[in-house]
Amino acid sequence: MKVLLINGSPHKEGCTFTALTEIKDQLEKEGIGSEIFWIGNKPVRGCIACGKCGTLERCAFDDDVANEIVDKILESDGLIIGSPVYYAGPNGALCAILDRVFYSASSKFTFKPGASVVSCRRGGSTASFDRLNKYFTISNMPIVASKYWNMVHGNSPEEVKQDLEGLHTMRTLARNMAWLLKSIEGKNLPEQEEKVFTNFIR
Ligand SMILES: Cc1cc2nc3c(=O)[nH]c(=O)nc-3n(C[C@H](O)[C@H](O)[C@H](O)COP(=O)(O)O)c2cc1C
Repeated sequence: MKVLLINGSPHKEGCTFTALTEIKDQLEKEGIGSEIFWIGNKPVRGCIACGKCGTLERCAFDDDVANEIVDKILESDGLIIGSPVYYAGPNGALCAILDRVFYSASSKFTFKPGASVVSCRRGGSTASFDRLNKYFTISNMPIVASKYWNMVHGNSPEEVKQDLEGLHTMRTLARNMAWLLKSIEGKNLPEQEEKVFTNFIR
C-alpha cells in the first residue's frame, strides 16, 4: 500500500515538507509506503474550463505537473495534500493544479482516503484546511482525521520542529491513515447510484 503526499509549497524542503516528512516516517513505521511529490516552483496553469477533460479524462494541458499528479494519485491508495497558508488560503499555484487534477480525474479517485495538512506562521490555517478538504468531500474520498486540525506552525523547518503538538497531530494522522487503509483493503465498496446533475435553474 502506498500514500502519495503532495508538497504544495514552492519550498522543496520547507515547513510543509517538514510536516509531510513526519507523516512519511510514521507511515513507514506502520508498514505503509509513501512518496513526497513536490509541485515545484515553475509557472502552472489555472483551469480554463475548456471541458476537454470530459473526453480525455485528463487535463488537455500537459505542460505542468497536473497530469503527472493524476497518474500518481491513481497509483496510490491514499492521498495527503500539504500546503503553506497564503493569505488565509492554500497556495494559489497548488489550487490551480488541484482544480485541474480533480476536475479531470476525480471520478477515478473514489474511496481513496484523503487528508490535507497546512503550514502557517500564525493564522489562516483552518480556512486553508477547509478549502483543501473540499476536494475530497466532492469526490467520494473518505477524509482521515487526526486529534486536532492538521496544521503545523512556523516560519522555518526549525520552528516547525519546535511545534511538538503539530508534529504529534501529523503522526496521529499517519497512524489513522494506515489504520483506515488496512481496514478497507479488499473490502467491497459502497454501491454508487448514477449521478444526478441539476443546475438550480431547472
Ligand atoms: C505570500 C505569502 C502569504 C502568507 N500568508 C500567511 C498567512 O496568511 N498566515 C500565516 O500564518 N502565514 C502566512 N505566510 C507564511 C507561510 O504560510 C509560512 O511561512 C509557511 O509555514 C511556509 O511553508 P513552506 O516553508 O512549506 O513554504 C505567508 C507566506 C507567503 C509567502
